[in-house]
Amino acid sequence: MSYFADKQTLVADIFSRYPDSPQGRRSALMPLLREVQDAEGFVSGSRMDEIAALCGTTATEVRSVMSFYSTYHTLPTGKYHLQVCSTVMCSLAGSDELWDHLVSELDVQPGEVSPDGRFSVQKVECLGSCGTAPLIQINDDGYYEKVTPGKCASILKALRADLQPLPDNPVPVTVNAEGRQVL
Ligand code: FES
Repeated sequence: MSYFADKQTLVADIFSRYPDSPQGRRSALMPLLREVQDAEGFVSGSRMDEIAALCGTTATEVRSVMSFYSTYHTLPTGKYHLQVCSTVMCSLAGSDELWDHLVSELDVQPGEVSPDGRFSVQKVECLGSCGTAPLIQINDDGYYEKVTPGKCASILKALRADLQPLPDNPVPVTVNAEGRQVL
């Protein structure tokens, strides 16, 4: 079933932000991806086809654009998508051990969702706060700094209990109008 078929006003609004040209239509790709990602938690192959048709491009190009941004997912994610920075500063500060602990503790591998639907995990590139490594980002909501094993345990405990707000509130993530995370 089409996602955008009954959202013509929304689609028109998004396209109105860009020049009425082939290049302008392709510029709408990012906000259309963001729309689907926010609504469904990931962008499936059929949604890529739909967005490609709207933008006058190919699903391959849509997938290529998505591959640049860790915020876009091609597979379903858990209620809490934990993204562990694996770039050098975080790695030196213990993110590899943190990753091993999460995968083992949650019994989930990248691309999977834990049996209770609650967790998924992903290694990501630098989150832009190397001075407070290691970092874990949760969904698009924010990231936790200096995540020690003890801090990780308290975060998981809170997530399992759906505590809101989480203890030791995360640093908010800033996203620009096109849905790109601003570092
Ligand atoms: Fe992890 Fe930069 S290396 S935030």
